[in-house]
Amino acid sequence: MGIYLTLILCLGLAEIVRRCISSLMLAFTGPLSKIPGPFVSKLTRFPWALESIQGKHMNFTHRLFQRYGDIVRVAPTTVLIADKAGIQKILVEEDLVKAPFFDALRLHPGNPMLVTERNKASHKSTDVMSATSLGGSSHLVTSNDTKLKKTFVSILVKAAINGQFPYLRYIPFWPQPISAEMNRLLENVLKKRDIAGQPAKRDIVQIILDAHQTDPVGFPEIRMRDEITMFMVAGSETTSASTTAILLHLVNNPAKLKLLEEEIESKFSENDEITFAKLHDLPYLNAVIWEGLRLMTAPAGLLRYTEKPTIISGYEIPSNTIVQPWPMALMKDPRIWPDADSFIPERWLGVYKGVEANRSDVLAFSAGSRNCIGWQFAMREMRLILARLVRRYELSLVEGQSHERRYHSTPWFVQGFYKVGIKQRQPSHA
Ligand code: HEM
Repeated sequence: MGIYLTLILCLGLAEIVRRCISSLMLAFTGPLSKIPGPFVSKLTRFPWALESIQGKHMNFTHRLFQRYGDIVRVAPTTVLIADKAGIQKILVEEDLVKAPFFDALRLHPGNPMLVTERNKASHKSTDVMSATSLGGSSHLVTSNDTKLKKTFVSILVKAAINGQFPYLRYIPFWPQPISAEMNRLLENVLKKRDIAGQPAKRDIVQIILDAHQTDPVGFPEIRMRDEITMFMVAGSETTSASTTAILLHLVNNPAKLKLLEEEIESKFSENDEITFAKLHDLPYLNAVIWEGLRLMTAPAGLLRYTEKPTIISGYEIPSNTIVQPWPMALMKDPRIWPDADSFIPERWLGVYKGVEANRSDVLAFSAGSRNCIGWQFAMREMRLILARLVRRYELSLVEGQSHERRYHSTPWFVQGFYKVGIKQRQPSHA
């Protein structure tokens, strides 16, 4: 018994020593050791994971980029990239695979989903929803429940925790991403469908239901449920956070809001209905949206992974490294955007201070093969919401509100809301 115990202790000790040596080797030798970053990040991912879980990593990274430059090592095998060429290389030129983080985001372990699929070939073949399918209303969310936002944010927070510490979800009773509230919402959506009968409308839910009906083995019920749930989160929280951000900038810049009101008034007479189709070519409205997305949409989850050594931003990145493009840094980079922190829709209407704004530098919807599948749909939705709101109401700033935000895939206000003053215009037909 004594010998066995000693043997086990020795093996345990040997394993600890082995791990310490390999951590030190990883920290201080090899290509990653040349990448600048805080000393502690060479040894542990804990500080980075903590910032991410708390949703505070935006401010943290801002400080890191200012101190260390466009490429920063934030964990032993994780590197953030802020420069345009590096981001382009990761997302478009090399089109690197998604990081293992996404395996932990599956709603049911082992069950594949479009968003979490890492294998390129499987992603292509399972992409049942093309962007063109997202033509009309998604009809995903049919509830006015005030708990909705909290439910979505809670999924994103739990996803962030699971992504950073994947083993936690195997602990019995560890809260899983999908709550009873989310399941109730899904049931509400499904209840309204006749799964066996003819589809009532061609929207995302129906496309997913059809995929299940056509191939119940290849696309089983659990997959169908997870896809619809993920679309509810991916499609609604992002759009509502972005629209809120744009409204925030408008009410804080009344002169720009006035220009938008004038454009809407000039295009629509009192009796005109404002529809998706009529909103495509409103230059100022589009400029307002792109400028709002530039300033506040912060897709932090663009995690990619090197499967072979790759040169990025002048550094050799070895295989099995998480490379994370940091679009917020690019979208506010004063080297690219004059008056980078100011809300200036005019930069999208021509040359502003010698620079022509370029949509490919606003990575609100990411880029490459894994960019946002619903981006055109989201743009249409935001145009419609903003145009209708502006025509129907006089919007104004409610002074004294905090702009402090946290980020879990999308930004949210610490106080849970951002108030905007509204007064009905007379007369109104919007
Ligand atoms: C303003 C609104 C939106 C923003 C800012 C946004 C942002 C993003 C970003 C940044 C990604 C890519 C993440 C990456 O590269 O790893 C993404 C992916 C995705 N988005 Fe959106 N999104 C929005 C609206 C929508 C809508 C309306 C839908 C669906 C109805 C949607 C569905 C998806 C899906 C399914 C993916 C995963 C695609 C894949 O992995 O291949 N999004 N979104």
